[in-house]
Amino acid sequence: MSKNITIIGSGYVGLVSGICFAKLGHKVVCIDKDENKIAALKNGEIPIFEPGLKELLEEVKENIQFSTNLDDGLKVSDSVFIAVGTPQDEDGSADLSYVLAAAEEIAQKSDSFKLIVTKSTVPVNTGEKIKNLVSKTNPNLEFSVASNPEFLREGCAIDDFINPDRIVIGVEDEKGQEILSEIYAKFPKEKLVISDIKTAELIKYASNSFLAAKIGFINEMADLCEKVGANVKSLSYAIGLDERIGSKFLNPGPGFGGSCFPKDINAIVNIAKEHEVKLSLIESVISSNANRKLVMAGKVKSCLDGDLKNKKIALLGLAFKANTDDIRYSPAIEIAKELLKDGLEIKAHDFEAINNSKKALQNFANIEFCSDIYQAINNVDLVVIATEWEEYKDLDLDKIKNLAPGTAILDLRNLLDGQKMVDAGIEYSCIG
Ligand code: UDX
Repeated sequence: MSKNITIIGSGYVGLVSGICFAKLGHKVVCIDKDENKIAALKNGEIPIFEPGLKELLEEVKENIQFSTNLDDGLKVSDSVFIAVGTPQDEDGSADLSYVLAAAEEIAQKSDSFKLIVTKSTVPVNTGEKIKNLVSKTNPNLEFSVASNPEFLREGCAIDDFINPDRIVIGVEDEKGQEILSEIYAKFPKEKLVISDIKTAELIKYASNSFLAAKIGFINEMADLCEKVGANVKSLSYAIGLDERIGSKFLNPGPGFGGSCFPKDINAIVNIAKEHEVKLSLIESVISSNANRKLVMAGKVKSCLDGDLKNKKIALLGLAFKANTDDIRYSPAIEIAKELLKDGLEIKAHDFEAINNSKKALQNFANIEFCSDIYQAINNVDLVVIATEWEEYKDLDLDKIKNLAPGTAILDLRNLLDGQKMVDAGIEYSCIG
């Protein structure tokens, strides 16, 4: 059955969810305060980089509208999803001001039943806070609150939405459950995990913490493998075959980044602190990942024999992972900052993240941004692969040898075929 849905916040989560809900056949109104963003969306332009999203918007345009005015959504829908940002406060906790402002506006402007659903990642008890705020703001409004956290990954967000491992629905009454079950009616019933609101809120943090811990674990195993002369690729493969462990998220690298893991693991530690619970395991994951950037910068330095004077590297990849232009908490950017501080000269390349990186690294003079891979490699002492763009797998090795004779390759993503490098006579090192 087709439902009318309003989504507040047309950022990453809001926009992907809105367009995918429209694909499911629902009528969607996406709201954002940013007039330029809404004007662009009305023209079919997507303000974020996400493969396939522009094409999908074109396909579902009959089912979706964009507006800066919340009334346009409230007058047609009884379900309102809040998908605004929850940035990290200075103390590491999630800043709820945008979420609560959205809830208050819903309360002020509604005169008929509303199901208010949080899609943004919010700390435990946010549902309760929204409930109190809405009752206080509009005591006569009939409403229900629910939590429906989003698990999509940048770069494959549409597929994650359309083929989810599970759909978590935290509700506190039958009406809320009924509406959300109708919205997700096209998915197999067994995909739906129905819980209370607090559990749903915590599931998102717990999932991200577990995945971050898995990456932290394999990164530390990689360090150990390096020291004892073992091979982390074989180790990761072998432990991943144990179904209790599973093979996903066991690729070692320069540390995890992005808009979710770093923020969410800090937030869950804060939530626990507020309730006098110590999450020492997750605290270790945070410090292990912070230290990883320094270890990676150290690796670059030792490939240059510790002497950075008059040395130049090509940094291939700036985004926090492939298929995105997002550089939030990107290990590549953090490693670059460490090296630039020490006076190294960097020629940086990325397929999508150059514009964002220019802003993030604007205070450094000794970095040049190159839109062509070989322009970045020309005349450098070392090539460092920091993001796993597929295209880097097909580097023209003869061209590299011509452009930068004697250069070595340091592969922080274990992306390249080491044997091919050795055969081509290029010094190659990777992780673990
Ligand atoms: C993550 C969660 O996967 C998603 O469910 C949630 O909704 C948002 O946060 P995302 O941040 O888009 O998604 O990226 P993800 O693919 O999970 O990667 C996160 C970081 O871990 C990246 O820096 C990536 O390079 C790193 N990573 C991932 C590894 O280093 N090794 C791996 O094996 C997997």
